[in-house]
Amino acid sequence: MVRAVKGTKDILPEEMPRWQLIESTARNIFATFGFEEIRTPLFEETELFHRGIGEATDVVSKEMYTFPDRSGNSLTLRPEMTASVVRATIEHRLELYRNPLRLFYIGPMFRYERPQKGRYRQFHQIGAEVIGSDHPAIEAEAIEMLLLLLERLQVRGSELVINSIGCPSCRPDFLNLLRNAVSEKLERFCADCRDRSSRNVLRVLDCKQETCQEPIESLPAISDHLCEGCRSHFLQFRSWLEKRRVPYQVRSRLVRGLDYYEKTTFEISNGLLGAQNALAGGGRYDGLSALLGGKPSKGFGFAMGMERLVLALPEEAVKESSSTPELCLVPLGEKALEVAAGVASKIRQAGKGCYLEYEARSLKAALRSADRIRARWALILGDNELQTGQWVLKDLTAQTQRLITETELLEACASGAGKTQILF
Ligand code: HAM
Repeated sequence: MVRAVKGTKDILPEEMPRWQLIESTARNIFATFGFEEIRTPLFEETELFHRGIGEATDVVSKEMYTFPDRSGNSLTLRPEMTASVVRATIEHRLELYRNPLRLFYIGPMFRYERPQKGRYRQFHQIGAEVIGSDHPAIEAEAIEMLLLLLERLQVRGSELVINSIGCPSCRPDFLNLLRNAVSEKLERFCADCRDRSSRNVLRVLDCKQETCQEPIESLPAISDHLCEGCRSHFLQFRSWLEKRRVPYQVRSRLVRGLDYYEKTTFEISNGLLGAQNALAGGGRYDGLSALLGGKPSKGFGFAMGMERLVLALPEEAVKESSSTPELCLVPLGEKALEVAAGVASKIRQAGKGCYLEYEARSLKAALRSADRIRARWALILGDNELQTGQWVLKDLTAQTQRLITETELLEACASGAGKTQILF
């Protein structure tokens, strides 16, 4: 039997309400902040990610799905979408129309990582980018939007950590300092860190290996080596978070894994997630547009892992949002089926939902199947009901029943405008 590829997974119908709830809530909230959706291709020229994300990052050097197409062009399945969004912004000159641009996206990304709970080779992100402004208030607003989404989804226990990783004017000096400090005690670091010390020394600060924690503690902190511009930007960003009453912690070791970041970086972690506890991450990328051949343009954004969000989503939030029908029509016999099919059409034309049971072999079997699809109500039409025009409406939760006519049923369908469930 052919199975799904390692590190990928099917999202089955029973999981779908969680995904749909997340997507619809995100779309609603992002719209209230003036963000518009963008969709870019799943694959891009490989060069986009080499230039945008950086050759020395783990993502580019170890994790990309890169392949030649039939004309010999090197293509890559997108490992993230910030580079693609900035490419599209430059290509379609989107900034001419709105400045700053506020864009969001929802879709699959691909990274060849070691699969484990919360870490996949195809995963999904919800992300947002603000392009064309370097105001620190916009950073706080984007984070407020992300936290509002978590709040609306009733996801509790998230923590925001922030940092500034400097800019091209202050970072090179800090990197030299860090490189020297690491090389002084190189033997105390793990093999990965020893490798990073020459290729991408900032990532040493981020190492999770137990044995590296002690030597990392004594390394210089970037917060002590920011230039005046970065220091003042970071202070303003913090004060905008405080004005919005957003709680945060500063962690000087937060460096993130993509090379395009400068100044503000942040992550949101959640204790419910286990080892892969990073729920969302982002930061400022003022150099990315110029790096990709566009006009220099400022940028800030974030992305959140949807599989991880699904894991952290409480059951109550999903129950409250369920939109599958609650009413099951149970016709007993072919004649009743004809009437029930007509009633089902009217219910749906009124914008409400119902299941129609086609093969009710007996009332008992039909009620069992209504229960299985988690219907709250069953409307029973047998010969008796057809004659009297009084149908039996069973409340499957309360285990009660009453009689209802077609007119009363359709009146109930007309009430509760905008709701897909029928209010009896
Ligand atoms: P990132 O930190 O690489 O940032 O990914 C953002 C989020 O995607 C992570 O916090 C995590 O929840 C999720 N994620 C990443 N890799 C995996 C995986 N293999 N399996 C499951 N979930 C995963 C970015 O991608 C940046 N583009 C964010 C950004 C937008 N920065 C500025 N704008």
